[in-house]
Formats: sequence, C-alpha cells, structure tokens
Amino acid sequence: MSSTTQTPHTSRQRRETMYERYLRTDELLDLQKPADERLHPDELTFQVVHQTFELWWKMTVQQLRLATEQLGSGSYGEAARALRRAVSAQGVVSQAMRQLEFVSPADFLVIRTGLGDGSGADSPGFRAILRAAPDLWDAFEGALNREQTTLVDIYAAPQTHPALYDCAEQLTDFDEIFHVFRAAHLKLAQRNLGLQATGTGGTPMEMLARTLGDLLFPSLWEARDALLARVQAQQGSTDLSNATGHGNS
Ligand code: HEM
Repeated sequence: MSSTTQTPHTSRQRRETMYERYLRTDELLDLQKPADERLHPDELTFQVVHQTFELWWKMTVQQLRLATEQLGSGSYGEAARALRRAVSAQGVVSQAMRQLEFVSPADFLVIRTGLGDGSGADSPGFRAILRAAPDLWDAFEGALNREQTTLVDIYAAPQTHPALYDCAEQLTDFDEIFHVFRAAHLKLAQRNLGLQATGTGGTPMEMLARTLGDLLFPSLWEARDALLARVQAQQGSTDLSNATGHGNS
C-alpha cells in the first residue's frame, strides 16, 4: 500500500499508510530520544534494547498466563506449547542484549548520567514475570494433584504422564533460561561498571550477583535431588542384596 503524492510534502502532510496506521509506527519510532537529545549516539541502542525486552516480556507474560489457564483446565499439551513459546521468547531478548556489548564502558558511563535512579529492577516486564510465576506453579501443582501423581514419580517414569512431563521440562527450561538471562546481564553490568559498583537503583554489584541463586520453580530442581536419592537407595538395596559391597557414583 502506498501513500505517494505528486507534490513535495512534509511527513505531517503525508497520509499514513495502512501499515503505519495498523502498527502505529509513528508513535513507536517516537519512543526513543531524538538524535539531538541523545547524550551519546549509542543511547539509541540502549533504549531500543530495553524497549525490546519490555515488548517480548509482555508476550512472555501472555504465554505464561495462558499456560496457567490451560494447566487449570487440563489442557496439558496446549500448556506445554505456550510454555515453549515463552522459553523461545527469552532467546530473542538474550540475543538483543548482546548488542549492548558493542557500547564501550566509557560511552556507557556517558549514557548512564541520564538514567537518574532508573533501574532495570523496575522493569514492568521483569516484575510481571516474577508475579506470574507463582500462579503458574500453583496451576502445575493443581494438575499433579488432579492426576494423582508427584513430580518425582513423573521424573522417575516420564511415559506415565507424557504431557505433564513435557510441561515440567518446559518449566525447567524457563527457569533455566531466566537464570541464564540473569547471569548474562550480570556479566554485561560488570563489563560496563566493574565488580564494585552500585547500580543507579542503589543495588551493589555483589547483591546483583546473589540473585543468581534465585529460582522461579525450586521444586523442579528438588525433584532431581529426590530422584537421585530414590535411585541411589534402590541401587544401594540391589547392591546389598547382591552383596557386592560397591558404592554408587
Ligand atoms: C549496559 C547495560 C546494563 C547495565 C550496566 C545494567 C546494570 C544493572 C545494575 C547495576 C542493576 C542492579 C540494580 C540497580 O541498582 O540498578 C541492574 C538490575 C537489573 N537490570 Fe540491568 N543493566 C544493563 C542492561 C539491562 C537490560 C538490557 C535489561 C533488560 C530489561 C536490564 C534489566 C535489569 C533487571 C531486570 C534488573 C533486576 C535484576 C534482578 O533483580 O535480578 N538491564 N542492572
């Protein structure tokens, strides 16, 4: 669809194309500082990468909420699909974040002067994911109860509940990829600010590093502990009955 006219015109006079109107490209492209207001040319990259995160995290939350509903209604295959989409979206933003590695630490320090006390910790998308995770987990546990099974039983015999096993693995993937985002983000922060800095939001780097211990769904990892213990106990009793006296590795 074209909006060409034969006379010279300003962008204000030009008729919006259907594409521009539908996608609201004027507003979208107006969401970054104009060139003459940027503290540094790379402020464009800084803003675009952060805005990209907010868009994809918005989509992520939509999929996490959908998965929560589908787990609640027993549509486990559909829930696994929504979770797969949520996991995949994290790949998009991880890739986008690497663009910030092209900004030198000295240039970042210039951009930083414009951030005030703004902090990624206030990201609406990040916070929405943290809010969505407990509901999602409750829905998954509800499904386990409904099917009268436990996480460790499913991990011991995935074929007994293949769709629920798929959901458990997608939840594990999501927890893992969220952790990987946090680890990559920490390295990005350190390569720009060093090891001792305190963030614009007041968080020391050391505290940021401690968030790497946080898990969205700890029970998924504890289920592995329980499975290992169960298998070792079984192997131990087999060893005993065979009187081999060998330990497990
Ligand atoms: C040059 C790049 C970046 C630097 C130097 C940086 C630095 C920091 C620092 C120092 C903190 C600690 C909180 C504070 O006091 O501000 C933080 C938190 C955070 N930042 Fe960034 N950041 C960068 C890019 C990003 C990007 C692209 C995102 C994507 C939205 C992001 C999202 C977050 C989030 C979600 C937190 C909270 C983390 C948590 O609580 O686990 N940051 N960042």
